[in-house]
Amino acid sequence: MTRTDGRACQENRAAEDGEGPRHEKRKADADGNKDEDVYTKKKSIDWFSVLEDMGQGAYGQVKLAQYQTPRTEKVVLKYVTKNRILVDTWIRDRRLGTIPLEIHVLNYLRAYPHKNIVNMLDFFEDEVNYYIEMTPHGLPGMDLFDYIELRADMSETEFRSIFYQVACAVGHLHSVGVVHRDIKDENIILDGYGNIKLIDFGSAAYVKNGPFTVFVGTIDYAAPEVLSGKSYLGKEQDVWAAGILLYTIIYKENPFYDVNEIMNNELRLPSVVSEASADLIRRMLNREIDQRPTIEQVLDDPWFKNIDLSASIGQDLHTLRASAAENQPKALSVPASRRGTRGARSRMHSALHAGPGSPRGAQFPMDLPTSLTKLLPDQS
Ligand SMILES: Nc1ncnc2c1ncn2[C@@H]1O[C@H](COP(=O)(O)OP(=O)(O)O)[C@@H](O)[C@H]1O
Ligand SMILES: [Mg+2]
Repeated sequence: MTRTDGRACQENRAAEDGEGPRHEKRKADADGNKDEDVYTKKKSIDWFSVLEDMGQGAYGQVKLAQYQTPRTEKVVLKYVTKNRILVDTWIRDRRLGTIPLEIHVLNYLRAYPHKNIVNMLDFFEDEVNYYIEMTPHGLPGMDLFDYIELRADMSETEFRSIFYQVACAVGHLHSVGVVHRDIKDENIILDGYGNIKLIDFGSAAYVKNGPFTVFVGTIDYAAPEVLSGKSYLGKEQDVWAAGILLYTIIYKENPFYDVNEIMNNELRLPSVVSEASADLIRRMLNREIDQRPTIEQVLDDPWFKNIDLSASIGQDLHTLRASAAENQPKALSVPASRRGTRGARSRMHSALHAGPGSPRGAQFPMDLPTSLTKLLPDQS
């Protein structure tokens, strides 16, 4: 499968694992199994055995779980703790009731499945949490944050393929009117066979509800116009974040170390791996919003000419994890401190939101709350 002009994405559009909604209740086997009525009640966390922690994000926990017998499927469960969901991220839906926007968007996306976007199978709730049930991507899978840390010599073919798939995912989202608003390495997972998925719709929004005045996402990936307090439409900022991501995948460090650098510093590339990749980074990290390419233009970039996504260029994740465990810290190809700390700066919803009486949007850095200041990299 060789395509140019971003059309390789189109091939990906079918939902290879999109089993679709699974709200139906299955009856237990009628063979005297003591769990036989476990599935007859409303779905709850009791239907599952939790196997392991998969990640701890800003808002809750993500676990690998397995349906108790007689079902046996393994699923990923993201716990979204109700009392940590911000007021402005609930949405009222005639059919679904009042639910977190994250779930609303994931549910909307079930009608537009994409190979590079996580698939929500179902969701349910109890008094404390919502639970988002997802297909595991790779067993084990690994997120791109860890992969960048552990993978020593990523070839240009490999990082081009990873990034192209992210761009396909973002292109699809934008084409159906959704902006992700938290594109970064932690929110991308790999299956070990070279296939990636974009996850974490906890900051996502519908384009039609913009322009947005509240900062969401992660400072390192935030576009300068957002940090300067301007209202924004979302797509352009996803492209900026994807530019930061591309730089981070290639160079294993952030292009800018603090807000001041994001707003003012000249972009410097430590080396030029290829002219084409360097050009694309420079185009995406353009501070002039209207000169920044759209995601469709990114997909049409010459760097992706003749890209072949069928070539398996994954790295066995069992081996990668094992070598990391044996050789710590030697296996780490880059100290985490170079790229900031996982999760520490994630999802600072509203953190830059100006208080009542202030102009719409943040007056950065004047309105920076102390909670956020603490999380920023050293600006000295
Ligand atoms: N479907 C999934 N498959 C594998 N790992 C996942 C999946 N969903 C989440 N994770 C892991 O859990 C972490 C946190 O999930 P995420 O949805 O990003 O939560 P948060 O909103 O708290 O950041 C991710 O960085 C990833 O490591
Ligand atoms: Mg996340």
